[in-house]
This record gives sequence, structure tokens and C-alpha cells, in this order.
Amino acid sequence: MHHFNYRDNELYCEDVPIKLIAEKVGTPFYLYSHATLKRHFLTFDDAFDGIDRLVCFSAKANTSLAVLKLFADLGGGLDIVSGGELYRGLKAGIPPEKIVYSGVGKRKDEIDYALSAGILMFNIESLEELELINDRARLLKKKAPVAIRVNPDVDPKTHPYISTGLEKNKFGINTEAAIDCYKIAGGLKNIDVIGIDCHIGSQITEAEPFKDALSSIKTLINELRGLNIDIKYIDMGGGLGITYDDESPPHPGEYARSIMQAIEDMHVKLILEPGRVIVGNAGILVAKVLYRKQGKAKEFVIVDAGMNDLVRPSLYDAFHAIMPVVELEGEQIVADVVGPICETGDFLAVDRRIADFRQGDLLAVMSAGAYGFVMSSNYCSRLKVAEVMVRDDRFHVIRARQNYEHLIEGESIPPFL
Ligand code: LLP
Repeated sequence: MHHFNYRDNELYCEDVPIKLIAEKVGTPFYLYSHATLKRHFLTFDDAFDGIDRLVCFSAKANTSLAVLKLFADLGGGLDIVSGGELYRGLKAGIPPEKIVYSGVGKRKDEIDYALSAGILMFNIESLEELELINDRARLLKKKAPVAIRVNPDVDPKTHPYISTGLEKNKFGINTEAAIDCYKIAGGLKNIDVIGIDCHIGSQITEAEPFKDALSSIKTLINELRGLNIDIKYIDMGGGLGITYDDESPPHPGEYARSIMQAIEDMHVKLILEPGRVIVGNAGILVAKVLYRKQGKAKEFVIVDAGMNDLVRPSLYDAFHAIMPVVELEGEQIVADVVGPICETGDFLAVDRRIADFRQGDLLAVMSAGAYGFVMSSNYCSRLKVAEVMVRDDRFHVIRARQNYEHLIEGESIPPFL
């Protein structure tokens, strides 16, 4: 139950007919269900009941202020990868002491910002980064709390673009080098070593890779403890997959049980960085059919949302179900659902069996709450779409659709032209 359901042939988000929102807001727009966001967050968090943990929602999946505020109110922390995400998190009311900062390319100004804000910890991805953070902390007269992000070399069995824990990936520090890194960190005056971190990939649909990663982390912690390096936090990253089509990922309960069993004797606080599993199926993209056209080889349904609005199908060949907002009578068709952008890669679905969509019909691109709006762009000078949140029988535009003025904001024509 995701709170996107048909009632009398019409798709509703909670108690609001989606057609009504489209009439008021125009298309395309992203739509999030408050009840689903809340339930997903609490289901995930409650799955770890009984142990000391902090769920740091991974901001990159959905950085909407309204979404972050909802999680802040539920006691959530935040996993960030940029100064911009830190800014958003603080604006939304996430306490800095619940924020962890990951990412291979933290800039000096971003490090300073995070140090001044007083975040929970930096997840360090290289020796050079560690040294820079130590320098900046010294200048700011602070001690930087850090974890080392370890690359455990496990195969998450997911799309190659989103697997991060393999030896060949740019992320983290391999387990052998990590020991040296910890030793160095221990000797740095403005560094406080508090944790260990790993994140092996995204849209992972099996429990095994998580267990493998955890077992190499455990070995490492024991080794570190032998060296008198105390680890208070294990950050297991994110990565739990969702059902887009016919995947059957472990339920958060199952995922939690396997982690909890593994760490029960470790005396650490657990940090988790879920993104997709919380927001993915809590949001959809609503678009309208502009035209239908029969090509020589294929039929096309041309809609007003394109790859600039939702890039996942183009970038990862990702599957998103396409549903009619008002159920349609005709026989299903097989067609490509494509956007208005002048690229062949601009599609939302290829050779897909879908409803008999006609000009003017509304369609819902499902499971678009994660890595949807956040990855959208102004390509082809298309305006970024509106975002809407529904709660019970109310809806609110949580981000206004851009207008042409927004498009040229900050641009300037030099006087020599
Ligand atoms: N923590 C770290 C350090 C990460 O890099 C990520 C995602 C997460 C947590 C959250 O992972 P999740 O629970 O959402 O799987 N744009 C791609 C996904 C990229 C994920 C990048 N890192 C997509 O649309 O599938």
C-alpha cells in the first residue's frame, strides 16, 4: 500500500484525485504522499528497535525541504554529500549533530561549513582528504569527528553505475590501506576518530552483499581495537532496493535483522543512510500526453515530461511503471513513451505494454520519489517542474514550477558584446 490507489477508475494520492492536482498545478509535476513517506521512514527506523541507531536519510535521493522537514520531525538525521545538502538539511531543521558527510570530493569551503555547523562525522574517502580536514579543523580550532569509509570489495549485484563497493570503484579506502589510514588519523591533533563507514551500492535486492560487507567491517573493527583504536559508530550506508517492476528486495525488517545479529556484540551505535527505500515509492511523476504517433517501426506516446525531468530510464535503462491517471477503456498498446527533447535517449519507457493513452490523457510515472526531481535539469531550457505533497485530503505545492525568469537568473551579457 503506497497510498497511490484507484477509486472509481481514478488514481488518487491518499484522499486527493490526482486529476484535480493536475488541473490546479498543470503538468508535469512530482507528487509525494506524506503518509507513505512517514510510514516508510518509521518502518525502516522501527526495524532496528532495540539497538542504538540513527537513521540518516540520504539527502541525494530527495532534497525537498518539505520532505527533509518531515524526516526531521520523525527524529531523522541526514547523510549529505555537499555544502548545498548541508544548507538544505539545516534549513529543514535537521540537527547538525545528526548529520554525516560522505563523498569523495569534499571542497575546503564545504569542509569549513560542516565543521562550523558541528556535524556528527565526516566519512573520509582518502588520505589527502583526511589531512585537509585536519588542517581546516586546526585553523577553525575544532576537532573533526571522522569515520573512514572502507571499500570492502563486495559485489552488490546492481547496475554498474551505482555499485560503489568494488575495488575498481572510486569510493572509500581498501581494507588494508584503511588500517594505515586509521593509524595516521589517530596521530592527527585535530581529528577525532569515532567510526567506520561503508556504502556498497544502490538498488541492492539481496541481503547477501550487506552481510559480506558487514563481516569485513567486523574483522577490521577487531583489528583496530587490537591497536587501541576505538570505534563507536558503524555507518552501514544505504543501498536497500525497492520494487520498480518485479524485483523482490529484502523487507527492511529482514535487512535490519541480519545487520543487528551481526553487530550485537560490537558495542557500537549504528548509522544507516537509506535513500531510495524511504522515498522511491512515495513519489510519482505526473505528465500529460501531447501526441500519439504511429511510426513505421513503432508507436510513440509523446508526453510533456522528458529526460530532463526524470533521467533514470535514459541513464540506467531503469524501469518505471506507467499508469493512467484515469483508467482508459481501449485495449492496451505497445509503445515507447517519449519526451519532447531532441535526443533518441529521451524516453520514459521502451516497447512497453501500456494503456490506450490518447492526446490529453494524464499518466503517472510510478516509483519516481527517489533520484527523480533531484536529477532533473534545465536541458533544452525546459523549466523544472513543480513538486507537490499530499497529506490526507490536502495538497500543497512544495516547490513552484520554474518560469522563464528563473531560467536566466544569474546570467549576464558582458559589456564587450
Ligand atoms: N550513502 C551513500 C554514501 C551513497 O552514495 C548513497 C547513494 C546512499 C547512501 C543512498 O543509497 P540508496 O539507499 O538510495 O540506495 N541516481 C541513482 C542512484 C545513485 C545512488 C548514489 N549513492 C539512481 O537513480 O538509481
